[in-house]
Amino acid sequence: MKFIEVKNYQQMSETAAEYIMKKVLDNPSITLGLATGGTPTGTYQNLIKDHQKNGTSYQHVTTFNLDEYIGLAGTDKNSYRYYMDENLFNHIDIKKANTFVPKGNGRNIEEECNRYEDLLAGHGGIDLQVLGIGSNGHIGFNEPGTSFQSKTHIVNLAPSTIEANARFFNRPEEVPTQAITMGISTIMKSKEILLLVSGESKRDAMYQLLHSELNENFPASVLKNHPCVTIIADEAAILDLKIPMLKE
Ligand code: PGA
Repeated sequence: MKFIEVKNYQQMSETAAEYIMKKVLDNPSITLGLATGGTPTGTYQNLIKDHQKNGTSYQHVTTFNLDEYIGLAGTDKNSYRYYMDENLFNHIDIKKANTFVPKGNGRNIEEECNRYEDLLAGHGGIDLQVLGIGSNGHIGFNEPGTSFQSKTHIVNLAPSTIEANARFFNRPEEVPTQAITMGISTIMKSKEILLLVSGESKRDAMYQLLHSELNENFPASVLKNHPCVTIIADEAAILDLKIPMLKE
């Protein structure tokens, strides 16, 4: 794992955006794996700013998102499809047809999981996957206890995840309790992974990531088995953690 320490959320967002932009310039038809949540919004803002200022083009880029809530249509403002459109896709020159997010409101969700997994494989997999981490160590919506062999599947969200996501909804009972997520084996097939970690609420997760053994009860620990992971973490997330062995 490569480790980049930054000062704060803003610097993490700028550094991550530069990292992604460089990959897009090197390979204009790159397939990006994208994440939602609070962590990557600043990164997306910086990508938009760069697109507007420097014209970095996404015309030939394909994207696959990690996950989607079950029960929400893509037009629902809390769906991850809506999040992606609003926070990134509507503001750059990507072709919407080349942006994929699992469909959370279909009639047959099992079938949708298989379709998504096959679609991704058919595209040749992900070149660069952007990841956040849950305070319980989840990646995508792969909650503690998920098999490292898992493919795209249906998950029951952990109470701590539902609680963490409640801030985006008007009422706690509106927060979906299930989601579709790329599986851990799906994520691990990405050629490269960029993990973004910001804030004090992620400090425990960061500590465990650095110190725990491979362990299905801490899903992010699987990343230790991946040959090409870069972590960008800010001071609040790593305060007092001893990480010299990760620094290059
Ligand atoms: P957050 O979520 O970016 O909203 O903190 C990260 C995650 O749950 O993976």
